[in-house]
Amino acid sequence: MKIAVLGAAGGIGQPLSLLLKNQLPAGSELALYDVAPFTPGVAVDLSHIPSDVNIEGFTGDEGLAKALTNASVVVIPAGMARKPGMDRSDLFKFNAGIVKSLAENIAKYAPKACVAIITNPVNTMVPIAAEVFKKAGCYSPKRLFGVTLLDTLRAETFWADTVGFGRGSVRIPVIGGHSGSTILPIFSQALGYDSVSEEQIKSLTDHVQNAGTEVVNAKAGAGSATLSMAAAGARFALALVKGLSGVPGVVEAAYVEGGCPEYAPFFAQQVLLGKEGVEKYIPVGKLSAYEEANLKNMLDTLKADIKLGVDFMVNN
Ligand SMILES: NC(=O)c1ccc[n+]([C@@H]2O[C@H](COP(=O)([O-])OP(=O)(O)OC[C@H]3O[C@@H](n4cnc5c(N)ncnc54)[C@H](O)[C@@H]3O)[C@@H](O)[C@H]2O)c1
Repeated sequence: MKIAVLGAAGGIGQPLSLLLKNQLPAGSELALYDVAPFTPGVAVDLSHIPSDVNIEGFTGDEGLAKALTNASVVVIPAGMARKPGMDRSDLFKFNAGIVKSLAENIAKYAPKACVAIITNPVNTMVPIAAEVFKKAGCYSPKRLFGVTLLDTLRAETFWADTVGFGRGSVRIPVIGGHSGSTILPIFSQALGYDSVSEEQIKSLTDHVQNAGTEVVNAKAGAGSATLSMAAAGARFALALVKGLSGVPGVVEAAYVEGGCPEYAPFFAQQVLLGKEGVEKYIPVGKLSAYEEANLKNMLDTLKADIKLGVDFMVNN
């Protein structure tokens, strides 16, 4: 199976490509693309790791076509990252055009690929890609994903530390979207919920919602989360590959269209991944009163983020 990473020379793209080089099944092909001219060099560097994953690096328009042709999975970490004082929505004006143009190329060269968008603001970039694919006549909501899995990693880590479980041993659904209040971890469904106070739940929720900003501030102008995002992106890309390969029971969270229309057209939730992409939307399930209230309060923000993407495509 061929996996393409678009934006592969960046802060996320390089470690993501490293993880995929080491973790993709033997026989996979990994194609790296970035506008940065040294991208073929990133691939040369990674090619010296003795895993049975063939890797090639590309740049330029022709390179993009080559990277995408025959790709079954396309992961997109291309675009500008936040600096201190910036909100994810501040990135819209820089990244909307990048995602639109990459999606147009995907429609041309890999119209059946599963596409996983990491570029922020995810809440808006995914609807932009959906509109591009609709225009090109190749849209399937089952094959388009916003990568929200970093929120899940954070929720799982912070929960394990609070409850005293081993890290990596808990699964926490995170629903909604990927910015501020739209990130909603569902701790009430986690093992150990009864041992944690309401105050702790509020503080954990706040921590997950602001964890991206914590990294941006800690890096003091040198970018946002890259290494933890690479881990989340690799976990998601590998889950897509497993699902497409027919491995049963692969469940991860992603921002997808159509699973919770009662809340918003696009919504992050857990999905079962299969041979065609989304095989089943996992229902959100029972929420606590606190989570219900947070969900209700964030829906207008999420819907406005989605509308921004749809309107961008009407005007561009
Ligand atoms: N979904 C999430 O949870 C999450 C988490 C962290 C960061 N992000 C987002 O991921 C994006 C990338 O972050 P980063 O830290 O890697 O940034 P970065 O600046 O280090 O890397 C971005 C890369 O994109 C490349 N690029 C720019 N335009 C391109 C194009 N048209 N085609 C191909 N490549 C292009 C750049 O050359 C660069 O190598 C940002 O938008 C950031 O906000 C998302």
